[in-house]
Amino acid sequence: MKKHHLLLLASIPIIVVLLAAQNETTQDTSSSFLGSAEGNSREMINQGRHIFRFDTFGDEAFWGGQLKLHETINHLTPRQAIELGLKVDSNALPPAVIQAIKSGTVNLNDPTVTLLLIKLKAVLGVVGFFNASGTLKSVGLTCAVCHSTVDNSIAPSIGRRIDGLANRDLNVGAIAASAPNLQPVVDLLRLADPNITAAQVRAVLNSWGPGKFDAELFLDGKAFNPQQVTNGVVTGMHVPGATLLPNARGLSGHNLHTWTGGWGTVSYWNAFVAVDELHGKGTFFDERFDNAEQFPIAAKAKLGHVSTDPDSDRVTSKLAPLQFYQLALPAVKPRPGIDFDPDAAERGDKLFSGKANCNSCHREPLWTEPGWNQHTPGEMKIDGFEARRAPASINAEGKAVHGYRTMNLAGIFVRERGLFMFPRDKGRFYHDGRFKTLFDVVNSYDARFDLDLTNQEKHDLVEYLKSL
Ligand code: HEC
Ligand code: HEC
Repeated sequence: MKKHHLLLLASIPIIVVLLAAQNETTQDTSSSFLGSAEGNSREMINQGRHIFRFDTFGDEAFWGGQLKLHETINHLTPRQAIELGLKVDSNALPPAVIQAIKSGTVNLNDPTVTLLLIKLKAVLGVVGFFNASGTLKSVGLTCAVCHSTVDNSIAPSIGRRIDGLANRDLNVGAIAASAPNLQPVVDLLRLADPNITAAQVRAVLNSWGPGKFDAELFLDGKAFNPQQVTNGVVTGMHVPGATLLPNARGLSGHNLHTWTGGWGTVSYWNAFVAVDELHGKGTFFDERFDNAEQFPIAAKAKLGHVSTDPDSDRVTSKLAPLQFYQLALPAVKPRPGIDFDPDAAERGDKLFSGKANCNSCHREPLWTEPGWNQHTPGEMKIDGFEARRAPASINAEGKAVHGYRTMNLAGIFVRERGLFMFPRDKGRFYHDGRFKTLFDVVNSYDARFDLDLTNQEKHDLVEYLKSL
C-alpha cells in the first residue's frame, strides 16, 4: 500500500469520531424539527415545579366554593395552622417578618398573620383568593400541601421549602373536617352508605391523624380496616383506612406507583388526584372505576369518566411537566457517620442481599423490582385490606389478584429520625404506618419470614437501611 493511502486509512477513525461528536452536538442545539433534550428538560422542570407548588387546577371551586374552607382559615391563628401541620416557606417572607419570627414578636394568636402568610404565597400548598378587605373569599389546594415540607431552619414548621418530601406532620383529615360545609363530601359517601351522617363523616376525617390521607375512601366508602393482622395476630380492630403520605421524590425507574401499585404510574395518579380528589377542572378516564362492587361511589358518581372541554381543562396540559418534575427530584442522601454508622451498614449490606433476603424484592440500587414491582398480601404475609381497595391485575392462572408495591427505600433515614429532628413526623412504615421504627420493620420480617436474625444483625440491617 502506498504511503498516502496508509495516511488516509489512519485518519478514518478520527473522521468517524469527529462526525459522531458533531452528531451529538447537533442534537444538543435546538432545532424546530427535533427540539433539544436539555432545553426541554429545563423548561419541563421549571413548569413542573411551578405547577407542583402553586397550581390549584381550579379546585378553589370545591375547597372554597363548596366546602367554604376559607371561612375557617379567615379565623385560623398561625398557632392553630402550625398545630394542623401547615408549613411556612421562609424564602417567601420579607426579612423583617423573618426577624420578627426569630425574635418572637409575631403574634401567633392573630388570624390576620395567617392571612398575610397566605397572601405572600408562603403557606405550602395553600392558595388564597382575597377580598378587597384583605380576608379570603376562596381557597385552593395544590400538590405541595401534602407532598412538601420545610427544613425548620427559622423555627419549627418555618424554613426552606423541600418539594417532594411528604408532610408527615400535616393533619389533612382535621383540616377537611374543619370546613363549614361538608355536605358535598357527605353526599358522595352516601352513594356507598345512604345513612351516613355529617357527624360520622367528621369522625372519620378526624380518625386519620397527622401524615395520612384516605384517597380510596371517596371511591369505595370503606373508612376502616376491619381486621388488621400483623405477624398472624389481630393487632387492631377498625383501624382507619387512611394511608401515610408517600414521598414524591426518588421515584424514577419504578414501574408501578402508590402503596399498592394497583393504580398505575405517577402520571396516572396525578391526573386522578388533580381531578377526583382535589376536584380540579380536568379530564380523568379509567373504566376500572365502573366496577360497582369494588367502587360503589366511583361507579355511581362516574368518577372514571370525568370530561372537561379542552378550553376549560386545567389539568391535562400540566401532566407532562408535573410528572417530569417529580421524576427529576432525587431521593435525599444520608451522610456517613451522621445519619448512619458506616461499619454496621457494611455488615447490614451483606445481610440485605444474603441471609435476610431483602434484595430478592428491593433490588439494589432501585430498591424495587425492575419490572412488575408488586406482591400479594399472601406473599407479604400481611392483611389485604388496602391491597383489595386498588384495581386487580391478572396472575398466571388468569385470576384477579391485588398487591402491595415494593416500596422505595432510598432516603428512608429521614423518616426514621423525623425530618430535621421534628418529632411529630417521626417514624411509621408500611402503607398504614403499622411499624413505628425501622427496627420494628426488620423484626416483623424476621418473624414473618423465619429469618432467624440475631439482635446484632437486626441493628446492622437498620443501619444499612439508613444508609440508602
Ligand atoms: C391530601 C393530600 C394529598 C394531596 C393534595 C396530593 N397527594 Fe399525592 N398522595 C397522597 C397519598 C395519601 C398517596 C398514597 C396513595 C395510595 O397509595 O393509596 C399519594 C401518592 C402520590 C404519589 C405516588 C408516590 C409513590 O411512592 O408511588 C405521587 C407521585 C403523588 N402522590 C403525587 C401527587 C401530586 C403531583 C399531587 C398534586 C396533583 C398530589 N400527589 C396531591 C396524598 C396527597
Ligand atoms: C416479598 C418481597 C419483599 C421482601 C422479601 C422484602 N420486602 Fe420490604 N417491602 C415490600 C413491600 C411490598 C413493601 C410495602 C408494604 C406495605 O406498605 O404494606 C415493603 C416495605 C418495606 C419497608 C417500608 C417502606 C416504607 O416506605 O414504609 C421497609 C423499610 C422494607 N420493606 C425493608 C425490607 C427489609 C429490611 C427486608 C429484608 C428483611 C425486606 N424489606 C424484604 C416487599 C418486600
